[in-house]
Amino acid sequence: MVLKSNYTGSTEVVTSGSNPSNKSSSIDSNNAVGLQKAQGYSVSLSKQDLILEKVETISSWANQKTDSIYESLVSRTQQVEESQVDIFQVDIFNGDKPKVLVVDDHAASRMTSVALLAMEGYEIIEADSGISAIELVAYSSPDLILLDVMMPEMDGFEVCQRLKDNEQTRLIPVIFITALNDRHSRIRGIEVGADDFLTKPFDRLELAARVKSLVRQKRLNEDLDHAEKVLFSIARAIESRDPNTGDHCERLVQLGRAFGEYLQLSRHQIRDLMWGGYLHDIGKVGIPDNILLKQGKLTDQEWEIMRQHVLIGERICHPLRSMRGVIPIIRHHHERWDGSGYPDKLKGDEIPELAQVFQIVDIYDALTSERPYKKAYTPEEALSIIAEETVKGWRNPQLMEKFAQFIRQRYQI
Ligand code: C2E
Ligand code: SIN
Ligand code: FE
Repeated sequence: MVLKSNYTGSTEVVTSGSNPSNKSSSIDSNNAVGLQKAQGYSVSLSKQDLILEKVETISSWANQKTDSIYESLVSRTQQVEESQVDIFQVDIFNGDKPKVLVVDDHAASRMTSVALLAMEGYEIIEADSGISAIELVAYSSPDLILLDVMMPEMDGFEVCQRLKDNEQTRLIPVIFITALNDRHSRIRGIEVGADDFLTKPFDRLELAARVKSLVRQKRLNEDLDHAEKVLFSIARAIESRDPNTGDHCERLVQLGRAFGEYLQLSRHQIRDLMWGGYLHDIGKVGIPDNILLKQGKLTDQEWEIMRQHVLIGERICHPLRSMRGVIPIIRHHHERWDGSGYPDKLKGDEIPELAQVFQIVDIYDALTSERPYKKAYTPEEALSIIAEETVKGWRNPQLMEKFAQFIRQRYQI
């Protein structure tokens, strides 16, 4: 499942993995000492996960357990001193350290991955065999597994197959560690459901980027059913077709969450706002290219078609129970306070609260971004345009006031 706008989809990920890029910062798998923090690390690390609850942690459990079955486990929890880790690294998942299980029968190889991932702020658990990995997964619910292929008794393929066949564990992303150019392993890996591949020796940045992207995606997926995932991927496909957007949805999700928190909305409301970020314009799937992609103003006729996007979107999401909270956002995000909006000409507080909240965020982001039909405004300009529209009667004045405060506080303007 693909939800992130910068995520290229499983097939492409597999391909890119088979064609490792620049190896300048590679380190040998037996050389875990003296790792240099690479310069110019620029992979975006903003908070992206949709999960609002803390994932239950059973971190110390395996440490205490001394039954024979666990004796073969090397279940050490790698805690990194805070001072070693940049704030933004630990905080990628809102303070909830993602947990990575490293499975390899060679202690030296494990050490390399452990050292690299610990530096990135992950919590690490280790297993030295396929069987112990399976056991450990059940008790420690890792967010991701780095899996060696060649291991005695149960090899990596079998481990992966078992995890992917199990409803409880199938969503945990598995990255296979393979030798360079081992095409056979890759094909087997795909067959058993691998999410990604990495070749030894590791490229540190590549490892960090893959792990981060898969963990993030997993956390989002945990919250979604199959049908929901389909919707989110449609929404993503539209986003890529709509020249208006770019990373619009992702920004909306983040800004929606932040504004929701600022307004002290409930967790469910915040979740709906965030889902709204992805789904509000899903109905644009039904808008023809010559209108959606038009540079410049729409004619009246075209505008009438464009306005349908809110109704189409509602129809798409309607059958899903879980979408209930988002549907008012989808349908009503273009209503106006004075009743001059669409599709229902709702007035004032007839407009669902979340639709009002979402609308301000949507418009603000549209204004501060470039569109084929307009330039990008500065935050101040955007706020003053929204303020003018409020004077015209289009927006809720109290909400607008709070939004302006929120933006000034957020951007220190
Ligand atoms: P969008 O580009 O994502 O814009 C979302 C909303 O942000 C707009 O809803 C509008 O309320 C606000 N907005 C965006 N740009 C501006 C602007 O330059 N000035 C002001 N004052 N507000 C702005 P709206 O108007 O209902 O439009 C819905 C969607 O219709 C837009 O989504 C876009 O896809 C399309 N659209 C709107 N106007 C035009 C246009 O002139 N040309 C084209 N090609 N498409 C347009
Ligand atoms: C809206 O009411 O949200 C869209 C109308 C506009 O600002 O052009
Ligand atoms: Fe819209």
